[in-house]
Amino acid sequence: MAHFGNYDDFCKDFSWSIAEKELEFDKNRPFNIGWHCSDRICNMGNGSKKALIWEGLGGKKKEYTYNDLRDRSNVIGTFLRSLGVQPEDRVCLFMDKIPELYIGFLGILKIGAIAQPLFSAFGDESLFVRLDNAGTSAIITQRKHVAKVRKIVDRLPNLKHIIIVDHDGKKSIKENEIAFNMDEAPIVSDFHVHPTTADSPSVLHYTSGTTGLPKGVKHVHYSLISQYLTTKWVLDLHDDDIYWCTADPGWVTGTSYGIIGPFSMGVTQCVMDVGFSADAWYNFIQNQHVTVWYSAPTAIRSLMKAGEETVKKYDLSSLRHLASVGEPLNAEAVIWSEKAYGKAFHDTYWQTETGSIMISNFPGMTIKPGSMGKPFPGITAGIVDVKTHEQITEPGRAGLIAFRPGWPAMMREYWKNPSAYESKFVKGWYLPGDRSSIDKDGYFWFIGRDDDVINTGGHLVGPFEIESALLEHPAVAESAVVGKPDPVNMEVVKAFVTVKPGFEPGQDLELQIMNFIRKKLSPLAMPQEIEFIDSLPKTRSGKIMRRILHAREWGEEIGDTSTLEDDE
Ligand code: WT7
Repeated sequence: MAHFGNYDDFCKDFSWSIAEKELEFDKNRPFNIGWHCSDRICNMGNGSKKALIWEGLGGKKKEYTYNDLRDRSNVIGTFLRSLGVQPEDRVCLFMDKIPELYIGFLGILKIGAIAQPLFSAFGDESLFVRLDNAGTSAIITQRKHVAKVRKIVDRLPNLKHIIIVDHDGKKSIKENEIAFNMDEAPIVSDFHVHPTTADSPSVLHYTSGTTGLPKGVKHVHYSLISQYLTTKWVLDLHDDDIYWCTADPGWVTGTSYGIIGPFSMGVTQCVMDVGFSADAWYNFIQNQHVTVWYSAPTAIRSLMKAGEETVKKYDLSSLRHLASVGEPLNAEAVIWSEKAYGKAFHDTYWQTETGSIMISNFPGMTIKPGSMGKPFPGITAGIVDVKTHEQITEPGRAGLIAFRPGWPAMMREYWKNPSAYESKFVKGWYLPGDRSSIDKDGYFWFIGRDDDVINTGGHLVGPFEIESALLEHPAVAESAVVGKPDPVNMEVVKAFVTVKPGFEPGQDLELQIMNFIRKKLSPLAMPQEIEFIDSLPKTRSGKIMRRILHAREWGEEIGDTSTLEDDE
């Protein structure tokens, strides 16, 4: 039986106190996500239950029980305290999907510090702007990534501790670096969880916008209330489930639903730190007997490409519930999954700022393939006019998605950027920046983003960041970056570039610039195509008009450019 029943009944009497009660929340007492995800499960008698089953490259395997989660997070917390890390200090996690990332996250929260996870494929410049903005004081990383930290540490006066989890500490470690072995450090018997409360900061995730540098989305410990209940009702986790969230905790799905949700429910989850291939993924599901699988449309489209023949090579009969997030899940993918696995992927919609699932296809609900489903109980969602921000009640009419603020996992600020935060609220609504319509049955149908941010394979990249990095290449005079259609990744980055005198446009230069961006920013931000042009379309005041280039890539009507100019 699914935890979730009839949609209207669940909405009628809904109150977040349902989750508060189950989690024994008391606003006058400490409330700490790290404690809830480890100590509490042990206190409930489940300490010897498997919490994390991990598989890495070369067939490496590790397992941790809830007792281990509690003990090892205490070890990490104690170690950070011994370095002088204080409550609310930012501690960055810059690692592949290894156990230290998951358990380190809990340890950071248990000492009241703020966890700042960053995608380990980030290059030094992407890393620098995020550590600089957050004023991060410690970073936990691996030998393979430390070179990128070394490159920027001199420009980061607040960054005092570089902790390397897989270093023996003997040779080649630098003065400001410390080796730390989570598995071998002695257990700490006397550990005091910092008494954070509902509004204490917990996690800082960076997200890209159209303009400016990426913004730090600050969450608080109270976010657990909605993360827990959405995990239970939407992802439908039960005590005996083996759960697999394919997202990397460098992004919000990987923390909200790859750490906090499942561990707060005391469920066993497995993690695979190996690159994508259909065979590797199916093999993992088969061997681990995965029952609930939370993934993303790009992965699903790649699996579709591998075909049903590949599915048939494996026993995937353990699968009970499938869900997806991050980008539009096309109707074909939903229909295909039902045919190939006998289970349809359930689309869910949310974003870094919302902290938890906002709109989704609930287990048991009739799925309309291509629709994102309905709002979570307790979430007031609507569509407002793009210009007037008046609510649209007419079914099928497009507008901006809007949420009434106040759900527990809502971000509390953009780090040191109050004006950007305020700009997200209009007429009492929070606007996530996406366009959609609602049909007569209350289902949401995603249309697109309302800004220039590129969603490539479920990852947001900001055109401004890439354009700025392009300008640092000696050959680039001007640049404009847009998304171009891609059958698997939905969109990929395309750059338009004018070159400085003395440089020769051509394939050599294109490859050189691509590599330059990949190393500086990340493989996600690397343009898949660079088009050299004589001049970029500009407004009278000299602003580059990305929209004209975007429309060209998507084969859309460019329309009246004079009005476009006025718009700018
Ligand atoms: C943006 C948020 C929290 C999920 C991981 C990404 C797009 C997300 C869907 C969906 C269509 C979706 C939106 C959103 N998006 N889910 N089901 N259908 N688009 O978090 O990096 O903050 O990105 O991803 O544009 O605003 P994020």
